[in-house]
Amino acid sequence: MDNRRWISWLILNLVVASDKVSAIFVDEPLLYDTFPPDFIWASATSAHQIEGAWNVDGKGPSIWDTYTSQPGIVAEGATGQTACNSYYFYQKDVDALKSLNVSHYRFSISWPRVLPNGIGQVNQPGIDYYKNLIAALKVANIQPMVTLYHWDLPQALEDMGGWLNASVADWFEEYARLCFTQFGDDVKIWVTLNEPWITAWQGPKYGPGTYTYQAGHNLILAHAKAYRLYESTFKASQQGKVGIALNVNWFFPGSDLIADKDAAERALQFMGGWFANPIFGSGDYPSIMKLKIGEKSAQQGFNQSRLQENTAEQKPWQKLLVPGSADFLGINHYTSSLTVNQPSNINDVSYESDQDLYSYYDPSWYGSGSPWLKITPFGLRNLLGWLRDKFNNPEMIITENGCSDTAGNLDDMLRIYYYKHYINNVLKAIKTDGVKVSGYTAWSLMDNFEWRAGYNEKFGLFNVDFSSPELPRTAKASARYIAQIIHDNGFRSDQPCNNYPISK
Ligand code: BGC
Repeated sequence: MDNRRWISWLILNLVVASDKVSAIFVDEPLLYDTFPPDFIWASATSAHQIEGAWNVDGKGPSIWDTYTSQPGIVAEGATGQTACNSYYFYQKDVDALKSLNVSHYRFSISWPRVLPNGIGQVNQPGIDYYKNLIAALKVANIQPMVTLYHWDLPQALEDMGGWLNASVADWFEEYARLCFTQFGDDVKIWVTLNEPWITAWQGPKYGPGTYTYQAGHNLILAHAKAYRLYESTFKASQQGKVGIALNVNWFFPGSDLIADKDAAERALQFMGGWFANPIFGSGDYPSIMKLKIGEKSAQQGFNQSRLQENTAEQKPWQKLLVPGSADFLGINHYTSSLTVNQPSNINDVSYESDQDLYSYYDPSWYGSGSPWLKITPFGLRNLLGWLRDKFNNPEMIITENGCSDTAGNLDDMLRIYYYKHYINNVLKAIKTDGVKVSGYTAWSLMDNFEWRAGYNEKFGLFNVDFSSPELPRTAKASARYIAQIIHDNGFRSDQPCNNYPISK
């Protein structure tokens, strides 16, 4: 085939394939059934996105406090300096959670609030804040699910190299020891790291395709050290579980071509397998990552692979520390894309180029308030099946799933559609596909500081009126919808909100 014919043939294939994929999303019938009796229902936030009080009561600055103080970085110059002011208004958050009927609240501890310099001196008011929050949750009969690291590294540690410093795993272990000691009697579910993929790839300075893997390597070590510390010193008395939250999208092959199917699998391995394979799989990086990055590094003139080699010195940590270092796999999932094989320019040294692929969205998919988030509920079920198969059906908790808009309207029908179909796909994964999902967490409890998007992209089940000093939280329609699903522990066909002609 000459080039032009080949391209038209490829486009035709893409159109046919994307038609097939879109068809899957249209009016997908609901499964009316219930979740297992002890299913965990949660909603989530993170410290920097809600707490505010960024410089009070002895808190040290985090990298996000520094980052947002530079002009032009975050939409409309927004910062997390006040956010939802949950440092003072946490009781409002607990009241909102109570009305959702959740069994758990996933929040994160701000590392520099409890250890202003990241290591060393403990800040007692910071400890007290989390103790008070946990006590308020207890009164409301809600269990804490606590993330140790949701991106707000103490600036003092960043100044020493942050996630690129080989000592960072030890710093994290000591921070984890403090948290397990202080809060472990009440916290039975711990998440070590939120989305190490984001930290390694999109962290402010880890961009080039060498630092990315170095940061990733240190993140895995940090997670594993915290896990082993809990296992050896706290588990017997505290009886909790420790996992990690990985963000993994689903990748549909853009066509039936084998090369495109391989590209979609490669995308999954580079995103999910990168962290999941060392911890839940063979103990090493996925072989496709080792192959691709090794080959490219050689062609680019590096004298060793940019991905950490499996050398004799590194084997001990891989063998003893990392494999099996989690009691559950936390999955943050939002969206899917279509993926085709596309060789990249060899001079481009980057994590994206290492993958030799191109991902895009089907224009027929519903969008959201975030450019990267398309509504593809069936992708979640596919992903759960893939994780079941690759990692020997581990216990999984959906640690985040949710949808944004920019309007913040209380009558948020799009979000209801999203939750209905994504949660129903989790139910199908459990009941039909035998996947072991033990919990579901809606992101987010309320509109909050959405990182570089500032306050424009709103993910909340509760609206927050940022123009009022009291920052009132008001339930959106989606909050009532989720409360109903949780109350029913599943989908009842006689609930009007679940019952449309298509399901008959
Ligand atoms: C993060 C959250 C974020 C959400 C929506 C997740 O990747 O953990 O902090 O707000 O996505 O972008």
